Amino acid sequence: MEELAPAAVRDHCVVYAPRIQDLLAREEKVFRIDATTVGVSDFRLISDIVAARPVLASERSVYKPAAGADIHHDSATRTIRALGQDVMAGIHTPPPPAHGLSGAWPDAATTYLREWLFSSDPLPISLLSKRGVTRSNTLSRIVDRAVTVWPGSDLEGRGTALAEQIRGASDTQDRKQAIALYRRATATLCDGVAALAANALWLMGPARPQEGARAELTAALWETLRLLPPAWMLFRKGGDAYTGLHPDIRPEDDLALFPLLMHRDPDHWSDPLEFRPERWAGVADPERTPAFMPFGFDGARCWAKHLVVPLAERLLDIAFDNRLVIHGTPHETHIPLRSLLSVRFEAETGA
Ligand code: HEM
Repeated sequence: MEELAPAAVRDHCVVYAPRIQDLLAREEKVFRIDATTVGVSDFRLISDIVAARPVLASERSVYKPAAGADIHHDSATRTIRALGQDVMAGIHTPPPPAHGLSGAWPDAATTYLREWLFSSDPLPISLLSKRGVTRSNTLSRIVDRAVTVWPGSDLEGRGTALAEQIRGASDTQDRKQAIALYRRATATLCDGVAALAANALWLMGPARPQEGARAELTAALWETLRLLPPAWMLFRKGGDAYTGLHPDIRPEDDLALFPLLMHRDPDHWSDPLEFRPERWAGVADPERTPAFMPFGFDGARCWAKHLVVPLAERLLDIAFDNRLVIHGTPHETHIPLRSLLSVRFEAETGA
């Protein structure tokens, strides 16, 4: 890989949303955000908080309650298994034409991934993950109702395993939950991987791994997960479990945990603001690194983490093979305040 000397400069070129900028400027590792929320970036304290109690159903994202009921553990594991099958099948099928990657990132990448992985599902299921539908609550409700009543005819081996979860549902309630899980799983996957790939493209700049240099690309992705983690903030509802862990935390305080800040803590990282993929060279299991939790801690660790990095690698391979370049002036690059942290830019393929 070429030298990545200007990486820290590239990070400085990003215009963060003011509230993220305020957080990045903080030196304290435990701080009050408002009357009922305490922010934490201290590694030990975050580990203790995450271990203090299991995540609540209402704090979950993909598996928060749907259709008025909690998601049963069996259907949660069935969903993740189906998603895994679909991602692995997708990685091994030819991707759509690369010009689909041109446009505004990360949105262009999200649409491209949806098309690649889920467009084989026949109507009406395929509408569940269509961008024009997911952006409108009214359209989403109409499509949900249509799929509940008629989840499509025989797929003849064409559809995804996730769609099969909907068709195979035992009753209407089960089907409604399967529909919600299809929508959430496809969105979390495509939005998350698009954000990760966008951040990696931005941080790598014109320096690209040599063709076939898989270890270099993997290291660049772990370093991206450190410096610009898509899941940059985790949330825990307050309660007795956390009092006693720190004098500033009261039972009524909610907690905002910041991997973004922890991953830049100079007590744990040398040259924390520099994008240095080589720091991951030879690290067999990056997630055992102290003060690094791009996919959460034990107990609430991401169930899909084994899918995210390989899919992002494949997407970046396609981008590099098709000479995707980022346009625009660096100081105009923004990171807005969203639940997923992602650099915004325009890109175009040269193929
Ligand atoms: C780039 C993509 C993703 C990133 C960066 C990511 C990151 C994370 C993080 C940081 C946590 C810990 C949350 C916490 O402790 O509050 C987590 C948990 C989790 N993630 Fe992911 N995730 C991604 C994609 C996905 C996908 C595609 C799915 C499944 C469809 C998924 C399912 C889960 C589940 C089930 C949990 C455990 C929390 C719970 O029990 O609900 N994630 N993820």
